[in-house]
Amino acid sequence: MIRYGGLAVLIAGLVIVVLLPVATSFVESWSRRDVDLRSQLVFNAARSQIEDAWARGDAAALEALFGRIATDARIAAIGLCEDGTLTLATGGMPADFGCDAAPADGAAGPRPVTLNGETALVTAHLLSAPGEGDARLVVLHDLAFIEERAGQTRMALILALVGVGFGGAALASGLSILVLSRWRHSVRQAIEDVREGRTEDDAPSDTQIGEEIRSALGELELARRQIDTVHTIWNPDTLQVALANELPGSEVIVVSNREPYIHNRKDDGTIQVQRPASGLVSALEPVTRACGGTWIAHGSGSADREAVDEHDRVGVPPAKPSYTLRRLWLSDEEQDGYYYGFSNEGLWPLCHIAFVRPIFRESDWRLYRSVNERFAEAVVAEAKRPDPIVLIQDYHLALAPRMIRDRLPNATIITFWHIPWPNSETFGICPWKEEIIDGLLGSSILGFHTQFHCNNFLDTVDRFMESRIDRESDSISLGGHETFVRPYPISIDWPPAALEGQPPVPETRATVRERLGLAPDIRLGVGIERFDYTKGILDRMRGVDAFLEAFPDWKGRFCFAQVAAPTRAKLASYRNLQAEAEELAAQINARHGSDGWEPIKLLARHHEPDEVFELFRASDLCIVSSLHDGMNLVAKEFVAARDDEQGVLVLSAFAGASRELSEALIVNPYDADEMGRVIQRALTMDSAEQRERMKVMREQVEARNVYRWAGQMLLDAARLRKKERIMRLIEAKERRNGRPNERRRKPAA
Ligand code: F6P
Repeated sequence: MIRYGGLAVLIAGLVIVVLLPVATSFVESWSRRDVDLRSQLVFNAARSQIEDAWARGDAAALEALFGRIATDARIAAIGLCEDGTLTLATGGMPADFGCDAAPADGAAGPRPVTLNGETALVTAHLLSAPGEGDARLVVLHDLAFIEERAGQTRMALILALVGVGFGGAALASGLSILVLSRWRHSVRQAIEDVREGRTEDDAPSDTQIGEEIRSALGELELARRQIDTVHTIWNPDTLQVALANELPGSEVIVVSNREPYIHNRKDDGTIQVQRPASGLVSALEPVTRACGGTWIAHGSGSADREAVDEHDRVGVPPAKPSYTLRRLWLSDEEQDGYYYGFSNEGLWPLCHIAFVRPIFRESDWRLYRSVNERFAEAVVAEAKRPDPIVLIQDYHLALAPRMIRDRLPNATIITFWHIPWPNSETFGICPWKEEIIDGLLGSSILGFHTQFHCNNFLDTVDRFMESRIDRESDSISLGGHETFVRPYPISIDWPPAALEGQPPVPETRATVRERLGLAPDIRLGVGIERFDYTKGILDRMRGVDAFLEAFPDWKGRFCFAQVAAPTRAKLASYRNLQAEAEELAAQINARHGSDGWEPIKLLARHHEPDEVFELFRASDLCIVSSLHDGMNLVAKEFVAARDDEQGVLVLSAFAGASRELSEALIVNPYDADEMGRVIQRALTMDSAEQRERMKVMREQVEARNVYRWAGQMLLDAARLRKKERIMRLIEAKERRNGRPNERRRKPAA
């Protein structure tokens, strides 16, 4: 027994001798890593704010930031070392602290120092661009928690000894091993907790700073990984996270002529909120909902003024507001000159080359310029920061980017041109071409749907402006400002909101046929758009005519429903088109119709998105026969509506969408006979082939949805902003050092 007791004491002694130093050094290295990790997290979270404040020389802001960070119970003090001198520090910084005690930077890890007779750990982080900084953020860590951990370790060993005394050497050894393994687990757990943003129950100090920063960093890191992967699924969440991650704290202002929600007074006196038939709005609305911010647009509804507050603002969407619509009022004269005149009789036909002669009047131009001024002023009035992200939309506002740049030089201006940009020869027709180009070159980034349109724009600038064009980076420098020209193919919401609540396809087919007065088994084709001469509405009717000529068996078995929302009816070219379309439909119906059957149904009224989707789902084919179109979102909406993977898309080769949706049947809308043959091909395509084609197109639209469109523009803007920020930091440093660098390179997007 005594022998066993002696053995137990011997084993206990061995346990102490072997385990105590191992456990102590383990706790120390664990704590050092903890300190290092915490310091890095704190620095990453506050880095941009610190660097900005430092570059501005804003000591008050730095002090406030440092004060906030130092509330963490494990951080004793924070300081700023500039050129080896401590220039700013929080209250807890010991008087004998010198910057030479701090390590070179974060990579060097924590360094132990003795201050006021006590040991502390110091970490340091370089400020400004890598390799450029001569300033360091130093963090002094309170080591009380390490002692606490060491105490816990000692206590565990004593417990092990007591176990030896009572349970014998073998048991004590087993217990020690068990305790050690539990320590290991808790060490791993603690490290995991710090990485993943969990808080230890017994460490309330973590909650003061760690919780929020770590969980936000954790989420952002996760999102960054998602966004960086090639197969990123873009949706409102990833867009929001991309914005928060890449453009933290930024303010988004959208500017367009057309507003996303129109309040109209109906005949019965009630107010109806309408969604306009506009590709721009269908694309941008879900994006703005995700990003929040302000959308400035012309208030064109008959009850718009009643819906806004005293600042002309209204929260939208009406059911669940997520951003502010700021309405701008235009007089009839302004609308005539700016919207109907210069925008729609001048630029629209000029850019679309649809054989309608552009009309340019000096009086329209003057109003176009002054309305652009008004939009620019509204942006300045709405901006809460000097550097908002301004998303300017379309050909109505070509002068606004320069006007905003003059007023808010630090704004990031992304202009998107929703219509085609013609070749330089065609654009040369515009009497104010230089002014239009100069206005657009106020943008930081100028986007078009396709590379082809980007190239046309670069050629146009080359031909008419004294500027520097860099064909490698697709950028243009004019008057010291650089604009990047990029293709961003626009798209739609995925899954589209209008699909929600749609009945199954067979049910919809029956309902729609009944509503249109068609026999249940009749095959249906649809075309849906605004009554615009660029859409090729007459041409597709001629295609239907040619189809029935060539394949008369289809008479009585096929109907083509053309939905066309009246638009810009003040202009003769638009009124004439509607009259011509009605006449042509009547002629074709008279030529081929019989026994109450008519091949063409013309529905000349606005359809809300859910009605449009219903028609798409009820049809066998959809014809998009634009004579020229930047993108055409109707094609993408048709694909999105067909979750049954059936239906055939007949798509013009002259719509930007044909570059992406190559599984559609591509047609030349100017060739009626070809279109007739393609209609026949669509109606006889078997279900398996329809599925194959539709599946690929759906995958395409899903992956390249509108959140990706916006996300890519915003990520490019973020890259540009980061590079500009580094340039500013370098400039600030050089100014301080009194040696500005003449040969500094411009940032490349
Ligand atoms: O194609 C460019 C575009 O802005 C579309 O987004 C929109 O459908 C149309 O032009 C503008 O229509 P409106 O003149 O009715 O705003």
